[in-house]
Amino acid sequence: MKDGLEGVIACETKISRIELVDGKGILEYRGYDIRDLARKSSYEEVAYLLLYGELPKRYELQDFKIELAERRELPPQIIGLLTHLPPYTHPMVVLRTSTSYLGSLDKKIDVKTREENLNKAKNLIAKFPTIIAYYHRIRTGKNVIPPTLELGHAANFLYMLSGEEPSRTAERALDMDLILHAEHELNASTFAARIAASTLADMYACIVAATGTLMGPLHGGAAQEVMKMLREVASPRRAEEYVKKKIEKGERIMGFGHRVYRGIIDPRAELLKRLAKKLSMEGVPRWFEISEAIAKAAYRYKRLLPNVDFYSASVYANLGIPDDLFINIFAMGRIAGWTAHVIEQYENNRLIRPRAKYVGDKDKKYKPLTER
Ligand code: SDX
Repeated sequence: MKDGLEGVIACETKISRIELVDGKGILEYRGYDIRDLARKSSYEEVAYLLLYGELPKRYELQDFKIELAERRELPPQIIGLLTHLPPYTHPMVVLRTSTSYLGSLDKKIDVKTREENLNKAKNLIAKFPTIIAYYHRIRTGKNVIPPTLELGHAANFLYMLSGEEPSRTAERALDMDLILHAEHELNASTFAARIAASTLADMYACIVAATGTLMGPLHGGAAQEVMKMLREVASPRRAEEYVKKKIEKGERIMGFGHRVYRGIIDPRAELLKRLAKKLSMEGVPRWFEISEAIAKAAYRYKRLLPNVDFYSASVYANLGIPDDLFINIFAMGRIAGWTAHVIEQYENNRLIRPRAKYVGDKDKKYKPLTER
């Protein structure tokens, strides 16, 4: 038995497929290759695909986009929460807390019909960006910028964050990033959501479990750590020395390695690398240049290859997103996959309850306090 359930098939799913074929990573959402979706689709269309299982027809996509846009605004109680949380609260703790609060406002919290599950999913997909943008504006002493119905999902987030409509390049970059973060089979946070769903806990409880799990630096928290590393390295010339020292000390290089893409590059990292390079040519080149120098050294000294979080850091930095919001952007993408998995678990459920191999002491005789 390998630690960390490595290689264990814990359930069946129709939502996404990860396979290593001839040394290449294949990632498909509902059978569609991520490379096609990243280049040709939109986050709204991918969220529809993940939730409903098929690409939408034109009118279905139009209706879905309107449905999401109309759900973006937050209830006043949530806005109140955002103004009362301490300004040093990590934005992921804010997202987790707000998700739980949204549940307490939902009179149908325990209704699990397909229609109600999809309703909750659309609410969360639509409201995650607003929670994040509102909290950032409030903690930096700025007025919140209400969502607009006119802009798409990605563009509306950047607009609520900065107050300006983003460039087409920035909108397309964030949209592609959200598509690439939308779903990834049974990663730790999705598995946490499915375990909660298998007990028939409500959708909000499942997403709180997922949001809490994503925060760890070995999972979604890596992107923020990558940015810290880029700032520490500060110049491409210092990358090799930095990487060599970290590896000699047996430390992890954040943004590298993957449980499933063992020894091959994460297909999402390849797409994000191109995106990061494009943005860097129009923005701040140094983050991408430092990233490239680190990637070369990480491969040279330990054959390490980047994962989805590595180039995300320079993408987000060039989009003007603050470092501690990086995990939130990951969650803004993954909320579509999480809710799709919760619904799939509900619809074909059996309690998830594995066993543990006991390795402790056995058959010990109880001693009263006087004899211990
Ligand atoms: C995500 O599961 C998913 O799908 C997750 C995700 C998703 O979309 O949901 O893809 C998103 O979480 C990506 C991963 C982000 N995390 C990081 O970038 C943190 C740094 N990465 C590592 O900690 C590690 O690679 C993991 C946690 C991602 C995977 O860990 P594993 O599968 O348990 O691998 P391991 O720890 O057994 O390492 C195997 C070998 C070891 O070498 P030896 O000690 O055997 O000589 O590879 C080495 C490790 O030391 N190694 C690394 C490394 N990753 C693996 N060495 C240095 N730096 C690294 N990043």
